[in-house]
Amino acid sequence: MSTRRKSIVAGNWKMNLDAAKARSLTEAVAARAAEAGSVDLVLCPPALYATTVAAALGLAAGGSPSGVALGGQNAHDKESGAFTGEVAPGMLRDIGSRYCILGHSERRTLFGETDSVVNAKVKAVLAAGLTPIVCVGESLAERESGRTEAVVTEQVLGSLAGIPADDLATIVVAYEPVWAIGTGKVATPQQAQDVHALVRALLARLSSPTVADTIRIQYGGSVKPDNAAELAACPDIDGALVGGASLKADDFLAIAKAFG
Ligand code: 13P
Repeated sequence: MSTRRKSIVAGNWKMNLDAAKARSLTEAVAARAAEAGSVDLVLCPPALYATTVAAALGLAAGGSPSGVALGGQNAHDKESGAFTGEVAPGMLRDIGSRYCILGHSERRTLFGETDSVVNAKVKAVLAAGLTPIVCVGESLAERESGRTEAVVTEQVLGSLAGIPADDLATIVVAYEPVWAIGTGKVATPQQAQDVHALVRALLARLSSPTVADTIRIQYGGSVKPDNAAELAACPDIDGALVGGASLKADDFLAIAKAFG
């Protein structure tokens, strides 16, 4: 965590919960958001429950009384049209979202999203006035064969190609080693810091060192209350993208507090 950048902790609920649980979890996080201190908090529910979460956050009335923001988990790269089952960036914006996760490894591996697909989505989400949270990360086989740097480099440069420096300055990047997602195997702080420093150097190459210095880079992959503090202590780790532990208000807020 750097004093120059405000930390951002986001909960990726993935395809979990029902409407009642989505509402009660949102209410619990919103009521206790102040416990996290000076951290941007974001909830990313399944698309179907986004309006439920927006209402529970008071976004429907405009503003954000609790200070907790709403985010999507994915978006299409077109504004509208014949794309059955998809959600447009403008729709997320319309219901009060401020963020959208893009290029999550589950989207890349299970739904065939390439860097060029992710790149088109990043541009569309920026055009809709949302902040993309762009995910990158290597698989276990890629790490074990010494390809982490090459894989992450290709993902960052491909997913963020052609984004003007002004826009780059507003995005969030999430480094999520695939082998750490949902496995309980968290990257060591040194492993995470090394890749975060690489990502920041790549962002500098795409913009400038000054711009790269302002961009927030989250770590994701088995972040829990008991490992958040050591990750938060790393100079280039500016928050967390939390899966499983974001489904419990206590755990999510404890993680946020570690970054506060
Ligand atoms: P877990 O925290 O469940 O490992 O998930 C991480 C993740 O994929 C967040 O996007």
